[in-house]
Amino acid sequence: MRSLKVLFAAAFLGSGVLASGAQAEQAYDPALVEAAYSEDGRYFTEDDIPTYKVQEDGTIDWLTYSGFRRYHSECHVCHGPEGEGSTYAPALKKSALEMDYYDFVDVVTNGRQKISASENSVMPAFGTNPNVMCYLNDIYVYLKARGTDAVARGRPRKKEAKSDVIREEENACLEG
Ligand code: HEC
Repeated sequence: MRSLKVLFAAAFLGSGVLASGAQAEQAYDPALVEAAYSEDGRYFTEDDIPTYKVQEDGTIDWLTYSGFRRYHSECHVCHGPEGEGSTYAPALKKSALEMDYYDFVDVVTNGRQKISASENSVMPAFGTNPNVMCYLNDIYVYLKARGTDAVARGRPRKKEAKSDVIREEENACLEG
């Protein structure tokens, strides 16, 4: 177990939000999101899981920017703008922090359904859709950045250049 937790609640102290009974506490482990190293313009946590990077001047990494665009072309119709969720599908900005990376990838690749008397919700399988599969890490890191609020709502402005390696892998994936 990791012991470090960031308490969003701290940000609300004194604002009266807690007193009004709003969500009291949300916690995530910084090691799940902090970029420990980068490779060819992509960032990873100490556990080699893709993550976002926001520089001090607000510049975001290419994948996060790309993920913003891909999310809004493939996922937002069901999951709501900017990962906020809808009445039909869960808020992915939370899922990206709460779910294991490999489980996240598995659900997007293979889909999932909940069918019962009261519920009938279907997450489609995207495993054969290159417009999703070639950008899965992009979408994932964008959603993590939304989950921690490292990236604000709206179109991100300053972004890093797309590296040659990212471009080459994207082309290979789309052709594959
Ligand atoms: C047609 C609507 C629809 C689209 C489009 C869609 N989803 Fe979903 N998704 C759902 C529904 C509904 C669920 C909940 C499924 C369940 O209850 O098991 C879900 C669940 C998920 C989950 C599991 C979340 C959790 O907290 O358990 C992930 C991850 C996910 N979707 C990712 C994506 C991504 C990434 C995209 C875009 C590439 C996407 N979805 C596009 C409907 C959709």
